[in-house]
Amino acid sequence: MSTEQTIRAAAFRSKIMSADDAAALVPPGANVGMSGFTGSGYPKAVPQALARRIEAEHAAGRPFKIGVWTGASTAPELDGALAKAKGIELRLPYQSDPVCREEINSGRMEYIDIHLSHVAQFVWFGFLGKLDVAVIEVTEILEDGTLVPSTSIGNNKTWIDLADKVIIEVNSWQNPALRGMHDIYYGTRLPPHRTPIPILAAGDRIGQPVFSVDPAKVVAVVETHGPDRNTAFSPPDATSQAIAGHILEFFEHEIARGRLPRGLLPLQSGVGNVANAVMAGLGQGSFEGLTAYTEVLQDGMLELIRSGRMTLASATGLSLSPEATRIFNDEAEALKKHVVLRPQEISNHPEVIRRLGVIAMNGMIEADIYGNVNSTHIRGTRIMNGIGGSGDFARNGYLSIFMTPSTAKGGTLSAIVPMATHVDHTEHDVQVIVTEQGLADLRGLSPKQRARVIIDNCAHPSFRPALDDYFARARARAAGQHTPHLLDEAFHLLTPMPSSDKR
Ligand code: COA
Repeated sequence: MSTEQTIRAAAFRSKIMSADDAAALVPPGANVGMSGFTGSGYPKAVPQALARRIEAEHAAGRPFKIGVWTGASTAPELDGALAKAKGIELRLPYQSDPVCREEINSGRMEYIDIHLSHVAQFVWFGFLGKLDVAVIEVTEILEDGTLVPSTSIGNNKTWIDLADKVIIEVNSWQNPALRGMHDIYYGTRLPPHRTPIPILAAGDRIGQPVFSVDPAKVVAVVETHGPDRNTAFSPPDATSQAIAGHILEFFEHEIARGRLPRGLLPLQSGVGNVANAVMAGLGQGSFEGLTAYTEVLQDGMLELIRSGRMTLASATGLSLSPEATRIFNDEAEALKKHVVLRPQEISNHPEVIRRLGVIAMNGMIEADIYGNVNSTHIRGTRIMNGIGGSGDFARNGYLSIFMTPSTAKGGTLSAIVPMATHVDHTEHDVQVIVTEQGLADLRGLSPKQRARVIIDNCAHPSFRPALDDYFARARARAAGQHTPHLLDEAFHLLTPMPSSDKR
């Protein structure tokens, strides 16, 4: 597409410049709100130009760091490039970049891990300081100066509204048919003036299809042409398939008991092997008329939509393999009827999640025998990624399911432990735990009853005797305690130091 087709407002064409010139407009110490959510809709050129500039400044002996605020994880071209340049002072919220992770755990980068639904309001309230610059990918600038969003919405509306300066990247690789897929809600108010979010079904549209921007704030427009870059998923392995099998059997059981309709309730699912295996299983079962009210649309959901099993998916971003990215772009016109992309404070809104009765399915690092879940920290100290939206959905969904292989690091570690080394989701928010060994339905069970079913159904056989022994001795020594523990040995019983963690 030509520049005249993608940047239709003449006033914006006069602001077209190179990524290097745009990056020069970001001052040292600035807080920068970037677009991007799980590898979709992130700016492709300016962050890399900024990283080059930061490296040059460092080489000249001048310190240069910025605060990076996003929707969630982005891509090597954003998080990776800036972290490698040692250019990030503070990062928020969810990230999954290996270089970022190393910088955070080594103490060179500050990291604030916030529930994704909270980020926008933290910024509106001023808890995070001033937002100086927004760098946002869009697909078109229309005649009236409104912006057609790209493949994720994340916190873009908030960044555009609150930043002093806005840098727009216009990515002509994206299919113009994306226009109309988005639903940007401008009705959010701060307490005490809040009103209900009027979403009664996953596909309801309550906003406008474009971002509004004050043209006076737009300091640069940069043209790009390239796809989102996500890693390909490996096909589901036997462990993922076993976990998915237990979940699908559980759904059938709930349908038979009249506790779920045949089309289930709107699904939320993280990404990765297990999530894709669950989606693939849903495609083969007898489920019809499925919907999703989720954070990311992944390959498995895209396939369910294309096969007609899923009628509607609401999300804030895409998280697709390269092959699925191409399919989504090619078929954007047809998919528009079935996909709504919203700001993340709406995709993850507790009120809507509770109203719709979402079924939340998320991965975890470990669960303890009482049902407390650790999603974020290895050995309670080193961050893996972050809490993402798992807390938004687990706390407010109709069903909250956490899943993991029963062992990690080649079978040397148990994912079921006596006491979680870090707790992101408490026993009160966790209803179902699943490993390839089986499923523990914790609803209606007391702590000691939960421990029994988690050890029996979910622990790997090689760790079950040790967990049994711990639980038996804890009960004997702590007779009369509601949640028996042996605090002197709770953490070292089952967690030998993994070799990758010995640094
Ligand atoms: N002890 C030590 N390390 C463990 C572990 C345990 N009990 N369980 C997993 N790990 C390690 C794995 O070995 C792997 O490390 P590696 O990359 O060095 O090999 C890493 O953690 C990721 O584990 P993996 O088995 O690949 O799982 P995953 O890709 O399904 O990710 C989470 C699991 C928990 C990290 C991931 O789901 C997450 O970040 N969740 C939080 C956010 C979230 O739930 N978002 C959902 C809303 S979209």
